[in-house]
Amino acid sequence: MKRKLSRFGVSLEGELLGKFDAFIRAEGYFNRSQAIAGLIRKEFVSNEFSRGGAVAGAVTLVYDHHRREVVNKLLDIQHDHGATIISGQHVHLDHDNCLEIIAVKGPGIKVKTLADRLKAVKGVKHATLSVTSAGK
Ligand code: NI
Repeated sequence: MKRKLSRFGVSLEGELLGKFDAFIRAEGYFNRSQAIAGLIRKEFVSNEFSRGGAVAGAVTLVYDHHRREVVNKLLDIQHDHGATIISGQHVHLDHDNCLEIIAVKGPGIKVKTLADRLKAVKGVKHATLSVTSAGK
């Protein structure tokens, strides 16, 4: 979707601007406008998440599939949260480890609750939740 751009002026102390330009290079932004837009969106997503607004994201899990109780527990939890889960992808990483990527969408609090329950399962070696805005 093509959105109309608006221009506005920003005044910053020289030192802060220097740090900002270094940040822009480190993060790979093309210019200051793109970097400012990225920071604003990130802040809005974080606010939306903490207020329980709609977010979308992914829960990533790594676990040892030889521990059957881990697999069963993860499945039970996912069935309890069917409304929050959009889809899932299972990758057999190596002989022991499975990687599971679960796409999620819904109110921030529900997404967080699901991720926390999955992370808390004994036998899960690594778990992350990354969220972005639901696009609105
Ligand atoms: Ni597997």
